[in-house]
Amino acid sequence: MTNVSQTKTEDYYQERYRPHIHFTPEKMWMNDPNGLVYYEEEYHLFYQYHPDGKEWGPMHWGHAVSDDLFHWRHLPIALFPDEHGTIFSGSVVVDWKDSSGFFDGGHGLVALFTHHKEGLQQQSVAYSGDNGRTWLKYEENPVIKNPGRADFRDPKVFWHKESSRWVMVLATGRSVMLYQSVNLRDWSFLQEVGDGWDVTEGIWECPDLFPLQHKQSGETKWILQIDVNDGAYAGGSGGIYFIGEFDGKSYTLDHNPQDFKWMDYGKDFYAAQSFSDHPQEGKERIMIAWMSNWQYANVVPTDPWRSAMSLPRQLELHRIEGEEVLVQTPVCQLDEICSKKTTEKARLVAAGESWRVTTAELPLRWQVILDLTENKRTRLEFFKSEGHSPFQFVIDTEHEVVFVSRKANEQEPFSNHYPVEVKLPESIKLNGILDLDIIVDRSSVEVYMDSGKFTITNLVLPETDVHEAIVLKQEKGTVYGVESVVSALTQTLKRV
Ligand code: FRU
Repeated sequence: MTNVSQTKTEDYYQERYRPHIHFTPEKMWMNDPNGLVYYEEEYHLFYQYHPDGKEWGPMHWGHAVSDDLFHWRHLPIALFPDEHGTIFSGSVVVDWKDSSGFFDGGHGLVALFTHHKEGLQQQSVAYSGDNGRTWLKYEENPVIKNPGRADFRDPKVFWHKESSRWVMVLATGRSVMLYQSVNLRDWSFLQEVGDGWDVTEGIWECPDLFPLQHKQSGETKWILQIDVNDGAYAGGSGGIYFIGEFDGKSYTLDHNPQDFKWMDYGKDFYAAQSFSDHPQEGKERIMIAWMSNWQYANVVPTDPWRSAMSLPRQLELHRIEGEEVLVQTPVCQLDEICSKKTTEKARLVAAGESWRVTTAELPLRWQVILDLTENKRTRLEFFKSEGHSPFQFVIDTEHEVVFVSRKANEQEPFSNHYPVEVKLPESIKLNGILDLDIIVDRSSVEVYMDSGKFTITNLVLPETDVHEAIVLKQEKGTVYGVESVVSALTQTLKRV
């Protein structure tokens, strides 16, 4: 067994923590996903990047592309700091009709991002006529000057068909501001949203605003997604969403602001952004988040890189038991890269017995449906080694509660915010059937439960050699389970 006191080399971290199917930069620091766009059969992922260190520092935009959202090719840095400052978060759109005049009547990619200089944040533009391989900054940057706000950042832009306008949503403290434009260069203010709602602690960052067709009613609703840095459900940074209407000029909520919902109930799902120009846009939305938390992002023990992205997930809007809710599932491309699938297996697990997931090979996907009718308490243990389970999930049917707990070893945790125990919301239904879709990769566990109504995303950094990826331990009562998929994923994604 490897001991934590042993000197750790890059190889140690590569073998232990480098994810197989989650995007990581080859080396150095990464935070938010930026500029997510689908264009000419490529998915683009830009990201907040510090190429000269493993801590947050002068921001650039790193870049990678993929055909399937899983096999990523690293490309050179897309945007470098300049006389207006460093390059904070933002988005990319496809300017199909050359509304900007940058593309000589053709089409191309336009990036809208925040320039940050000595605390001053302003919005700027860059464009690329060669599929994002090279970028030019617009010579009249910044295009939206700071109106005297300390926080004025993270523009997310989309084309609003009905009013034939580009719309931008921007984080402005504990509110967002909407702007409009016909050419992506000249912007006028529309509305400030959220001021005085007073819904969470902490500052708002990385907003997103997008339409989704309601699965049951067919109506289009507008989701306003916001990231809050501090005061998230599991502590530190996390995301929330609101449901409402947008007519091209103003956003109104369908509900009381206090009835917002959490995007995820884990500790590591932040700065989520949805893809622009995805083929299924409107019906579903694909989203990627930064899989970390500002409470400890700068000290997560990995080398030579720091931070990973969440798996891309697909969002749909449903009404479940009278409640409007985002349903999140891993994107369907994940099914295509699964190499091994078991056929359905059913199992009755009585008190004192265990159900070990047949493969310890990572990355691993386990889809199981549990019948909790006779259950009292089930414990799911992840990355189990001798006597230690750094991540656990307790389904306590007797008391109708689910606990998630992440523990450090006996050793000092790298941050006091890393160990955590969270109780999931009481609205999780535990009186019958519960479905779980669990993806375990090196250094993370993502759980989609109750048909994707609840997701729980966490970094898990086991400090000792792992013997078992998942063990279900029945502690009280009986559970009946049907396992539909256990899969390892294709070799082409495997890292050594
Ligand atoms: C969110 C954030 C953004 C900002 C970026 C800077 O994680 O703080 O608001 O643009 O990171 O790297």
